[in-house]
Amino acid sequence: VYADQKAASLAVAARIAALIRGKQALGQQTVLGLATGVTPIGVYAELIRLHREEGLSFKDVITFNLDEYYPMKPDAAQSYVTFMNENLFDHIDIDKNLVHIPDGTLEQEDVAAFCLDYERQLSELGGLDLQLLGIGRTGHIGFNEPGSAPNSGTRLVTLDDLTRRDASRDFGGKQNVPTKAITMGVGTIFKAREIILMAWSAKKASIIRKAVEGEISGDVPATFLQLSDHVEFVLDEGAASGLT
Ligand code: F6R
Repeated sequence: VYADQKAASLAVAARIAALIRGKQALGQQTVLGLATGVTPIGVYAELIRLHREEGLSFKDVITFNLDEYYPMKPDAAQSYVTFMNENLFDHIDIDKNLVHIPDGTLEQEDVAAFCLDYERQLSELGGLDLQLLGIGRTGHIGFNEPGSAPNSGTRLVTLDDLTRRDASRDFGGKQNVPTKAITMGVGTIFKAREIILMAWSAKKASIIRKAVEGEISGDVPATFLQLSDHVEFVLDEGAASGLT
């Protein structure tokens, strides 16, 4: 638990930078799992600063984003492609050929094959070194909404009504928020060698309490993280304020 979001974001960015530099020293690539939303923005801003001011290079970093709305055009203002470009990728030296984000433009009959291929690419690279997560008020990680299975893989899902309501500002009304998304599964996330879930502010206190202290259940998918021994919750005081 950190005093504030800024201190926590700097600490997470420093860990990512150390991971990348450590692997670079061994001549290895780093495979990162990335999240969108407001939560990781401070981490991405600090990674950009580390790139600009302290020579951190992303040339041998491979990224896989957790999710994308479906359907979604990559150049739409609300797409996670646009989000990642604006908040990180356009400001660092990453090779865009090494960036992976679920494809919101697929025909529905092609989605299953795409998802299997996403999993295949991840495992051929030896899996994720580190997965960054936020948490939704439904308890979702990625877009694994209530009802998600612990061994779920990358797939097309239906978004919870609360998730669509929370996204409505970005879309100018809930009716414009897609009803579906492609997301990595809980099982996909679990395979990462390190998982960091971040949450800021008292708005997340109640779901953080359920995620950390509640009964493990598909009703709150983030509770499955209690079963992992390589997960860490990074919180500010507001988000931690419901913990006993
Ligand atoms: C985003 C994602 C979601 C968000 C969650 C929290 O890629 O997978 O699980 O992390 O909805 O969103 P924010 O950070 O906007 O509160």
